[in-house]
Amino acid sequence: MVVYFNDRFMEKEAVCISPDDRGFLFADSLYEVIRSYKGTFFRAKQHLSRLGYGATHLKLGKTDFSELEEIARKLVVKNRLESEDAVVYFQVTRGVAKRSHAFPLPAPRPTIYASVSKFDPGPADRDRETGIHVITIADTRWARCDMKTTALTPNILANQAAVEAGATEAIFIRDGVMLEGSHSNFAAVFDNVLVTAPLSNYILGGITRQFVMQLCARENIRIEERPIFEQDIHLATEMMILGTTTEVTPIVRMNNTIFKEGKPGPVTRALQMAYNQKIALIG
Ligand code: PDD
Repeated sequence: MVVYFNDRFMEKEAVCISPDDRGFLFADSLYEVIRSYKGTFFRAKQHLSRLGYGATHLKLGKTDFSELEEIARKLVVKNRLESEDAVVYFQVTRGVAKRSHAFPLPAPRPTIYASVSKFDPGPADRDRETGIHVITIADTRWARCDMKTTALTPNILANQAAVEAGATEAIFIRDGVMLEGSHSNFAAVFDNVLVTAPLSNYILGGITRQFVMQLCARENIRIEERPIFEQDIHLATEMMILGTTTEVTPIVRMNNTIFKEGKPGPVTRALQMAYNQKIALIG
């Protein structure tokens, strides 16, 4: 597999990351995941601008990552994935320096890594069709979830708890509010209105979430960005997760409760259809 590492394309095995890299030492680092549908990227500019947003807030020095789109394109070609569905992964760290908590001086050059791999649609397709089980879990993350940092320990633990419970995703709850999943955003339907948590420092501003909101406008589905309280979730008629790898995936069971006879609902299906139509146009 050919990857990109600090200005060069090379075989993945040839990449040499220093143990002094602050991504390794401190998770002082950001990442992005972008889908390529048969060689066409989905919302690459939005993903790279979110990387820039994180880099600005982390004071990484480099905040414009627009050149990564072309690098990703080259990676797709070099790995012969132009006619496949693929996932591009980007990671940017503050760089290599002797370990000290404060920013190193002079500022090191950020480490930039990118790779592409074939997307296995199998499990994702099945989940989108049948729906998934989720668990709810206390949100133990920090208060800057709007930055896509690689400091994902709470997300990993939450997702592992889901897997151990026979579920697919864990929905974080903070102060009684259902915020988002370990690697996806969360939405529910109340009285035919799609409700999702408002943008804040407690969720990632998902590119899929934003796209689905645009689809709602086109499909005449009303949207409300407001907190969803766990105590009110029994009033919802549908629940779903939204994300780059999951797209629009229905939730049919939460903890031990089977939701709406375990069947995905009409708003979810309408959004999936609209999503697929849009992908078919770009792919
Ligand atoms: N995760 N919330 C969290 C915590 C996420 O990690 C993700 C994406 C999302 C959805 O964002 P988007 O629609 O931009 O993919 C929401 C990626 C896919 C991951 O960690 O692999």
